[in-house]
Amino acid sequence: MMLVRALGLSVLVLLSACAPIVAADAERPLKPKTGAVASAHPLATEAGLEIMSRGGNAFDAAIAVSAALGVVEPYSSGFGGGGFYLLHRVSDNLYTMVDGREKAPLSASRDMYLDADGNPIPRLAKDGVLAAGIPGMPAALVHLSQKYGKLPLATSLEPAIRYAREGFEVDKRFIAGVTFKKDLLKTSMAADVFLLNGEAPPPGHIIKQPLLAKTIERFATGGLDGFYKGKTAKRIIKGVNEAGGDWSQADFDQYTVVEREPIYGTYRGSRIISAPPPSSGGVAIIDALNILEPYNIHEVDGVRRKHLVVEALRRAFRDRAQFLGDPDFVDVPTERLTHKFYADGQRASIRLDRATSSDSLPGFQPEDEGQHTTHFSVLDADGNRVGGTQTINFWFGGGYMVPGVGMLLNNEMDDFSIKPGVPNGYGLVGAGANEIQPGKRMLSSMTPTFVESDLGVAILGTPGGSRIISMVLLGVLERIDGANAEQISAKPRYHHQYLPDSITYESDAFSAEEVQGLQDLGHTLKESSRKYGNMNTITWDYAGNKVISGADPRGVGLAKIRVY
Ligand code: GLY
Repeated sequence: MMLVRALGLSVLVLLSACAPIVAADAERPLKPKTGAVASAHPLATEAGLEIMSRGGNAFDAAIAVSAALGVVEPYSSGFGGGGFYLLHRVSDNLYTMVDGREKAPLSASRDMYLDADGNPIPRLAKDGVLAAGIPGMPAALVHLSQKYGKLPLATSLEPAIRYAREGFEVDKRFIAGVTFKKDLLKTSMAADVFLLNGEAPPPGHIIKQPLLAKTIERFATGGLDGFYKGKTAKRIIKGVNEAGGDWSQADFDQYTVVEREPIYGTYRGSRIISAPPPSSGGVAIIDALNILEPYNIHEVDGVRRKHLVVEALRRAFRDRAQFLGDPDFVDVPTERLTHKFYADGQRASIRLDRATSSDSLPGFQPEDEGQHTTHFSVLDADGNRVGGTQTINFWFGGGYMVPGVGMLLNNEMDDFSIKPGVPNGYGLVGAGANEIQPGKRMLSSMTPTFVESDLGVAILGTPGGSRIISMVLLGVLERIDGANAEQISAKPRYHHQYLPDSITYESDAFSAEEVQGLQDLGHTLKESSRKYGNMNTITWDYAGNKVISGADPRGVGLAKIRVY
């Protein structure tokens, strides 16, 4: 038992955790003996399983999934974008994150999206070539292959090349995306590839991408040079410059992947391993968990649990935009923000009988980083893991498809603060830590995460802009409660990000009593008009050596296991 003081309220909180079924140490299996892939598209999941069946490990399979997603989910991610790949290698107990985030081009400058009077022109950071950062995903895939894979890169890329050449059938998600972005796609050759007579194609229509197939082939045979030099690089530079951008070979030469130490945290006996800066997600999630830890939210009623989760998110988000940016350019106080003592200070202002007003916290408003991205999880029979979250930012990125390359460029530049301290296109404000500088990585919310406990292991992540952070936090808490991959992916969601000072929630996230209870505490609630997120999760439970792969029922993805 422990006594917590909250603004004069003495609160008894129990430290006993909920008790999911766990395997005794003696029964704990060393290996899952089962492989698993969960991704947002069935063909991407099949690509991963195919590569495993050809002798690939989790890292080879991750390359296959990542590349395939870039072909069959061109609205979410791709070779013209970037991603984070959180890895665990069993043989030497290595944890690392391969950072393939895009970088600002060398011609970028702090005020590049401001007019002569210093007013932001947000469209410039969202549409077309000026919105694009230098792609990082190809470099990350080469790195994964060379350092961690067992198979040649060309083998792992075979399914993606096949899907690009032979085509894939459009689904409801694709149709919704092109309908939404039709006008943007018409600004480049993307319209020829994705639209039919200028309109969204009907269900069952096959999209073939022969140019992209050739681009991936050059990459498969040439590796890094097959993308960042020669024909592909030249065509990208020419296309970008003809469309009004300013890229050069030096941009491609300066692009490097960085391996970063993940963020580690503990929560009521579990270990959390998550994405470090330039992701804001790992820091925010560990901070929120530290704030929550002394409360026993696993054994309280729904109103109290949700109130406390929201109060933790409010505080974690307050710090996020202020302090976080590319650690290669700014000092990010990661250790301080993820320290339990820091959370003690934040917890001191939480009241159990009333919502805190965000205005009453000193602070800063966080940015929103885009609405579309994709996450996949991979586990192999040896227990190697990959949590990969990758993106071209908004649906179809900046909408610019490079002639002769057939690849969409991202619009990741919008993830920078286009003018520190002044609201951006979303009416949101960012900080100096995330201002634009040449060669800098823009802040991200992508949060591939592992949870390890006596129960076993979970690999999770999701798209969803700043909501990624609350979704992953809720997923971690579900896992602590004993949920498996399918339950974690399906669980209804709610979100708070400090400002706007309201809780957004999926219609089934709260009961009528919980809505009333939260309102009585002073929270403002906004029911989301749609379901959000696309969490693709794998859990490996030690009890019974059971692997479960869970695709988000909100999406069209596929989760499968492979029994050896
Ligand atoms: N572009 C979405 C993110 O990186 O958070």
